Amino acid sequence: MAHEPIHPSFDFADKTRGYADIAASLRSLLEGERNLIANLANTAALIYHALPNLNWAGFYLIGPTAQDAATSELILGPFQGKTACVRIAIGKGVCGAAAAKRETQLVPDVHAFPGHIACDSASNSEIVIPMIFANGPRRGELLGVLDLDSPLLGRFDEQDQRGLETIVDILMNSFE
Ligand code: SME
Repeated sequence: MAHEPIHPSFDFADKTRGYADIAASLRSLLEGERNLIANLANTAALIYHALPNLNWAGFYLIGPTAQDAATSELILGPFQGKTACVRIAIGKGVCGAAAAKRETQLVPDVHAFPGHIACDSASNSEIVIPMIFANGPRRGELLGVLDLDSPLLGRFDEQDQRGLETIVDILMNSFE
C-alpha cells in the first residue's frame, strides 16, 4: 500500500487561495510522471473533487476520424461524472468551439449557447479550456480540451478561468 496518494481537501471560500492550493497539489501529483493518460486521469479527479458545484470534469482529446484522416474530432478522454457523449466534431458545441478557436469558452448559461451539446441534463453552465502542448515535438499542437460542467447557472467567472488555465499550463508542462 505504499505510495497511495491522499486526496487533500480545498477551501474555495477564498477562490484565489483555493486555486493556488490546487495548483500546488497538481504540481506534486504530476512530478516525475510523464504518462499522458495517468496525468489526465489524476487531474480530472483532483479538479472534480476539489471544486464545489461541478457535475462533470474531464477531457476531450483530438483524434483523427476513421473516415478521413485529414479531419479531426474530439474523443472522450479521462473524466469524472456521469457517462458522456464520445465524439464531438471540431467547431460543434462548447468543446468544439474551444478547440476550433483555441480560446477558453466561458458559458454562464449553456441553454443560451447555440449548438450546445447536452450530455447531462443537470448541466447549466460550462467552461472549456483548450490544451496546447508546451514542450517536445508536438509543441504548439492542440491535444484537446478540459471541460467542466456545473448544475448552477453562472458557476464560472474570470477567476475560475485564470485558475483553470494555470492548471492546464501545469498539466501541459508535464508532457514531453
Ligand atoms: N456540453 C459539451 C459536451 C460535453 S459534455 O458536457 C461532458 C459541449 O457542448 O461541447
